[in-house]
Amino acid sequence: MDSLISLVNKLQRACTALGDHGEENALPTLWDSLPAIAVVGGQSSGKSSVLESIVGKDFLPRGSGIVTRRPLVLQLHKIDGHREYAEFMHLPRKRFTNFALVRKEIQDETDRETGLNKQISPVPIHLSIYSPNVVNLTLIDLPGLTNVAVEGQPDSIVADIENMVRSYIEKPNCIILAISPANQDLATSDAIKICREVDPKGERTLGVLTKIDLMDKGTDAVEILEGKSYRLQFPWIGVVNRSQADINKNVDMIAARRREREYFANSPVYKHLAHRMGSEHLGKVLSKHLEQVIKSRIPGIQSLISKTLAELEGELTRLGKPVAADAGGKLYAIMEICRIFDQIYKDHLDGVRPGGEKI
Ligand code: GDP
Ligand code: NA
Ligand code: MG
Repeated sequence: MDSLISLVNKLQRACTALGDHGEENALPTLWDSLPAIAVVGGQSSGKSSVLESIVGKDFLPRGSGIVTRRPLVLQLHKIDGHREYAEFMHLPRKRFTNFALVRKEIQDETDRETGLNKQISPVPIHLSIYSPNVVNLTLIDLPGLTNVAVEGQPDSIVADIENMVRSYIEKPNCIILAISPANQDLATSDAIKICREVDPKGERTLGVLTKIDLMDKGTDAVEILEGKSYRLQFPWIGVVNRSQADINKNVDMIAARRREREYFANSPVYKHLAHRMGSEHLGKVLSKHLEQVIKSRIPGIQSLISKTLAELEGELTRLGKPVAADAGGKLYAIMEICRIFDQIYKDHLDGVRPGGEKI
């Protein structure tokens, strides 16, 4: 099954690489039918922190105010061995092994597109992380929802962000990671507001409650975590991310995860929920759910791939040979991936992969 998720990852990347050719053929439809996970919530609710915990690496710009100003499409690829590296689509063949430089490149690339003035842009940044310590997932970090424009931003920014976020999460293939901070009233949660609109039955929304450690003394999040305040099909997951003070002190991810585990396990009010709390649990739930969604969508993806294959072949013929090396190369690469997917799908129908391993 892992191989299927990783193939969907490849397809997603291939679709994007061919984006400029995309308008006329089935690729945009194919991209829209591939499942992805988007993170939504108000500004500083902890979206980037949650993403980092899932990945288990420090690499995202975080902090107060509007930090994430372009969508970040993050693909996690599980690999063998012990080396970890990252690659940006806009910097092909450059391997980052220092994740502080990944963070800097996200900031620089954001500024290149938006200017320095806290503007936002819907043009996504594509980042792939290869690591033995990740699960195969595609995650999308989105700018935070807000109610007011700050100095230097146009008034339209509030609606612009909302529309950008909606354009991702309204697609039925999108699994929504809805982030609400526990130190604010859930009724005012920007995440819940927009999710209620695009997924009223809560069928593809995963509720994540951050900042549980910052709640007022004498209050707790048990009602929310038990699903009594706002019901979703999936159980709510509570997390404790690093505080700004932790970030300033460079508290590392391993220490943070350990502390998070201890927080829930040792808390008299949350002890009974501890087994389904925390970032590690969240990562596992997501991967498992994504697997199920992909399985249920295989027939649909399959027919789109056949259509895409036919159109790509048509396009190649139309371009005639010799094809411009660049465009032709990409088309061939996608066709190759489609063929592999095709094969895996057929094996999946048989219930067995070539090696005899069950999917
Ligand atoms: P985003 O704007 O939604 O992406 O939020 P960030 O991940 O950038 O987090 C905003 C601020 O809240 C940062 O200073 C984080 O350190 C802090 N923060 C996020 N989650 C938690 C949490 O669970 N507990 C505490 N104490 N601070 C958190
Ligand atoms: Na922020
Ligand atoms: Mg952010």
